[in-house]
Amino acid sequence: MALPANFLDELRARTPIAGVIGRTVKLTRSGRERKGCCPFHGEKSPSFYVYDDHYHCFGCGEHGDVITFVMKTTGASFMEAVEELARQAGMEVPKPTPQAAQAEQHRAGLTEVLEAAARQYQEWLFAPEGKKALEYLRGRGLSDTTIRKFGLGWSGEGRGQLAGALRGQGIKPDQLIEAGLMKQGERGTVDMFFARVMFPIRDRRGALISFGGRIMGDGQPKYVNGPETAVFSKRRSLYGLNLARDAVRKGAKLIVVEGYMDVIALSQAGFAGAVAPLGTALTEEHLEEIWRLSPEPVICFDGDAAGQRAALKTVELALTALSPEHSLRLLRLPPKDDPDSLIKRGGGAAFQACLETAEPISAALYGMLAGTTQRDTPEARAAFRQRLIEVANKIPDKTLASEYRQDLLDRFFAERRQGQSQGRGKWVKPGTKPPIALPPRPEPDAAASELTRARLMLATLLDHPYLIPEVEEAFSHVELPPEEDRLRHALHDFAAHAKRLDTANLCSHLEHSGLAEQARAVQTLAAGDYRLAPDASPAEAAESWWSWYSLMDFSIDMLRAQRDETQAYWMAHQDDRAAWDRLKKYNELLLNALSGETGTADS
Ligand code: UTP
Ligand code: MN
Repeated sequence: MALPANFLDELRARTPIAGVIGRTVKLTRSGRERKGCCPFHGEKSPSFYVYDDHYHCFGCGEHGDVITFVMKTTGASFMEAVEELARQAGMEVPKPTPQAAQAEQHRAGLTEVLEAAARQYQEWLFAPEGKKALEYLRGRGLSDTTIRKFGLGWSGEGRGQLAGALRGQGIKPDQLIEAGLMKQGERGTVDMFFARVMFPIRDRRGALISFGGRIMGDGQPKYVNGPETAVFSKRRSLYGLNLARDAVRKGAKLIVVEGYMDVIALSQAGFAGAVAPLGTALTEEHLEEIWRLSPEPVICFDGDAAGQRAALKTVELALTALSPEHSLRLLRLPPKDDPDSLIKRGGGAAFQACLETAEPISAALYGMLAGTTQRDTPEARAAFRQRLIEVANKIPDKTLASEYRQDLLDRFFAERRQGQSQGRGKWVKPGTKPPIALPPRPEPDAAASELTRARLMLATLLDHPYLIPEVEEAFSHVELPPEEDRLRHALHDFAAHAKRLDTANLCSHLEHSGLAEQARAVQTLAAGDYRLAPDASPAEAAESWWSWYSLMDFSIDMLRAQRDETQAYWMAHQDDRAAWDRLKKYNELLLNALSGETGTADS
């Protein structure tokens, strides 16, 4: 019985393969995969790997998906294995309705028509009439082996030629229309592909679903792709996926490129894990498809502006589905290159060198956002910061989202520090000791260690969470040990999400994040040093926090940067009282810090 492909897909998706295999094979984590001793051949050291959607034994070569595993280990037939897994997943195996059976039969019919066309196109390519096309492909550097591997062909250039050739096999023009090979024109049916080099498009399982055709010269459109049909959906299909799938299972890197020729050139150069969307941007369905094969596929974009925009679009989409298990790497090619041209100029080595520069999303994202955003005024910077936070918030996994938020903001502040320390002279000696601060109330202990001060700052925020937004930016410059860092992180997270910044909410947020104990520990540690009374007024709390802050090592640089920024802002918004108050505060803190510095330097 033929089961609908989407039922099987859903069954596989709902059946965690590691869980099923883990019942018979003891698995241990190995990076992102799990491994164990192969149940199909005797071995003592594990070479049996379990991935998201399949297993592979590097010892005996046995591989397959969760259904194959059940069949092979229990001796069940395909249907029995499916029934059993469906039962465990709480799914009902669909009984084929007459309509479903008919639709399935219809699709199978279309596939046969497409296969017949593919055979015909290939035959023509190697026949005298396909000479120009074959020369064109060879001229683009493809070997005959590659041409055959991808089943490339020639459409012919006589009107109705395909219909004529397939008539003998009982294939009618109506079927060719349904298969997307002909279309209804004003004067009868016409060929979809005419005088084009043909690229068969197969689905993940290798079933033929459509074609792309390229004109040989410079004409327009350069490529024509088959229309959507009962078997072909552009938003789901990736060119080369059937071949790439096998290659990736054998260890090849999964690389997403832009075009047909890129996939083919890469494959010929030894990068057999390449796939391409079919003239559309990458969709959610594409991402699902590639993540089933690899936890971190490489997305390869042209170096030009359009390529950059496409990259950003893809990343923003990917963020909405990013998880600790599924990410992307981004590869930016030299301007004016695509993988095909790069390989032509520099061979596989040139591409390999490039491939090694692929960056994880986290690293690439900031540059991508910054590259397209103005941030030369405080307003623009504020908007940009807001955008960074919004982008990170697209990630559904809470922990990961907050990691990204922190990462992006760290980069933002690091960039600002760098930008602002340039060209400002060197009169601040590197390694300047902490200055003496304002005589604050309460008086901070200038001798307390950086860590103690940081803990005091944390403790102040734990008692007075409403302060977090005010100090958040400044606080993010302070270097903290991992434990304290997590706590700060949780505080920032809390401020970004909580409806009310009060102690009760904060407590429950910390409980949720598993950091409650950590928070109590910091409070206890800080309590040994001087600490603000929990019922101190907001103004006292703020003043206390800022005075601890002003004692941090980097404070002079930072304070000056913030003073300058606030000053610039205030110059443009002289009626903003809050900005004026901030400016006064920064000037005061800065003056104190500087006098402290002179004092230390002189002694
Ligand atoms: P490119 O123009 O970058 O393709 O378009 P390419 O593979 O580098 O083409 P060559 O090297 O000149 O042969 C990328 C992809 O966009 C789609 C195709 O899928 C193509 O592979 N495309 C492009 C179209 O669908 N129609 C077009 O007219 C052009
Ligand atoms: Mn190209």
